[in-house]
Amino acid sequence: MAAPNLADGKLLYDESCAKCHHTPYQSLGWNEMTSKIEVSHMVSACSDHFQLDWNAQDIEDTTEFLNTEFFFLEK
Ligand code: HEC
Repeated sequence: MAAPNLADGKLLYDESCAKCHHTPYQSLGWNEMTSKIEVSHMVSACSDHFQLDWNAQDIEDTTEFLNTEFFFLEK
């Protein structure tokens, strides 16, 4: 997989996620995210749930974008 692309992550987010999570991102869950793996699982869960047909790169890009903007997790 290529390095995460933040610009693509932003586009994907704006297109498919911002309608619920808003800009800047707002958490809608009860569970605090404690690692990028966890964020990536939730990105994957939300994109599956809404049948976006995202590939691994899309998930990686959006996870990295959200982490840079909102979560600030080290790993
Ligand atoms: C129709 C509304 C909706 C859309 C669209 C949506 N989400 Fe969510 N998302 C939710 C709700 C509701 C939760 C809380 C679920 C829970 O806690 O069980 C959630 C939880 C999350 C979480 C877990 C952490 C948190 O903040 O609660 C992440 C990360 C996340 N979504 C990312 C995304 C991404 C990325 C997209 C775009 C692919 C997306 N979501 C699209 C409604 C949405």
